[in-house]
Amino acid sequence: MQTLVKTLESLIGTALATASGQVDAAAQVTPAGRPEFGDYQANGVMSLARQLRTNPRELAMKTVDLVAANPVISRLEVAGPGFINIHLADGFLATTIAGATRHADPLIPDCPQPQTIVVDYSSPNLAKEMHVGHLRGTIIGDCLVRVLERIGHRVIRQNHVGDWGTQFGMLITQLQDVQKASGDARIPSALADLESFYRDAKSRFDSDAGFAERARAAVVRLQGGDEAARVLWSLFIEESLGHCEAVYQRLGIRLTRDDLKPESFYNNELAGIVKTLDEKGLLTESDGARCVFLPEFTGKDDQPLPVIIQKSDGGYLYATTDLAAVQYRCHTLQAQRVLYVVDARQSLHFQQVFAVARAAGMAVSPCELLHITYGTMMGPDGRPFKTRSGGTVKLVELLDEGTRRAYDLVTSKNPQLDETTRQEIARVVGIGAIKYADLSKNRTSDYIFDWDSMLALDGNTAPYLLYAYTRINSVLKKQDTDEALVESIVITQPAERQLAVKLLQFAEVLETVARDYFPSHLCTYLHELAGSFMRFYEACPILKAAPRERATRLALARSTAVVLKEGLALLGLETLDQM
Ligand code: ARG
Repeated sequence: MQTLVKTLESLIGTALATASGQVDAAAQVTPAGRPEFGDYQANGVMSLARQLRTNPRELAMKTVDLVAANPVISRLEVAGPGFINIHLADGFLATTIAGATRHADPLIPDCPQPQTIVVDYSSPNLAKEMHVGHLRGTIIGDCLVRVLERIGHRVIRQNHVGDWGTQFGMLITQLQDVQKASGDARIPSALADLESFYRDAKSRFDSDAGFAERARAAVVRLQGGDEAARVLWSLFIEESLGHCEAVYQRLGIRLTRDDLKPESFYNNELAGIVKTLDEKGLLTESDGARCVFLPEFTGKDDQPLPVIIQKSDGGYLYATTDLAAVQYRCHTLQAQRVLYVVDARQSLHFQQVFAVARAAGMAVSPCELLHITYGTMMGPDGRPFKTRSGGTVKLVELLDEGTRRAYDLVTSKNPQLDETTRQEIARVVGIGAIKYADLSKNRTSDYIFDWDSMLALDGNTAPYLLYAYTRINSVLKKQDTDEALVESIVITQPAERQLAVKLLQFAEVLETVARDYFPSHLCTYLHELAGSFMRFYEACPILKAAPRERATRLALARSTAVVLKEGLALLGLETLDQM
């Protein structure tokens, strides 16, 4: 099985090749812009005709005549300067939907060439608690992982958490002092709030020279493999990971311990990275530091821009660890693609790391390295999202607030539901709304975080889609037996047809997401699908229809429910039976 668009491209492409005498002629099929143009449209004729200096309309006519007999297309027509409008056969739509309904199958073909794809996402620094700045990377990454896996790729998640910088010297020194003061060598309760623990440590570091001195010595001991330092460090890391896991669990993020590849994992490789760069003749000494200068990176006044690999005191940098990670992902994990779902502000860093990795042979073809950037989450004032007092908002607090707001919403709409039910609905709607609001925005732009619009029951929102899903299910529940499971259905009404075509496009949308990494395409699709369903539901009575129509419409409703649920799950959203 392949996507509908691929079937059409091959049917029309073959005809176009014969008509033009060009073996590699491409039909370039896309969904039609408007229903009067048919269901799909082939756009490939014009450019080919231009190339061959022939009349495009004539080439299009010839192509249409040559399309082999097939059950998929009912009619082709040449339009405008040489487009081919494609009308799908109702019988084909009916058979496909009937088959899909019987198997509760969302009709997703496996990708023809499965790849090993590494996805680096979430990757917070463990020195502090996860805050709103981690939200986008965490949920966009998780959605991409789900989609890539669903269409058949082998995905390896990598949570490249920061656990190794100089900050950890400061934190373990603080930890040691707190333990000593309390006479208790267990995890102090002060760690329950990592944020304030960090703040306390930092203010001592900045004001107390003796503390700062000990903190610096602690890093050296830690990185040199000192056992006592290591024990303190693991206590801290363990606690911090617990905080992350609580967030992942509430957000329904699939990252587990097995996906952790912290910065410290690469510690033993760093000397080797320097050696490799040196052997390749890429290292230059600059102000005592060892750097790589590549001609494509220049700063002000065309001054060459260094990638610093090792500081004069011997310390390694963020980029050094990332080079070791590239090597591990390309060579050890044998990835064909590595996606880095990281804030757009790290663009230069990744361009440099990728370029150095390629120059040094740490990433060799066919390993593709891609930075999947995203914009910043802004507050209602259009500035980066902060608390009222200007502090960073902890992710847990944001999730609490979303759930609370959703709870108020359900309570006002449905006061008769019992407490437990309302809490469950609030959890699914609140978390879903936060995730969906983010995923539905253009990934690369900044966006304004706004509670009211994300919780609206109308529009391209999670509550709207979750509600549409419950509506469909309540219709389906009203039948005695599963009447939709029939051998064949008949599609006659325009609204039925429109919904059927939309359902068949799910697979194409997933391929698009897997190709350009914009979850918003999937959101738009699901929103349109719910809209098609609502129009169909208004135009075509389901339960009151005559048996044949009734079975057809129930099948369409059931298929819509299956696709909506699957689509929402791929975005990482749960669904509800009632709302
Ligand atoms: N820990 C980094 C941060 O919080 C993100 C790491 C992204 N991944 C990477 N391979 N550099 O900014």
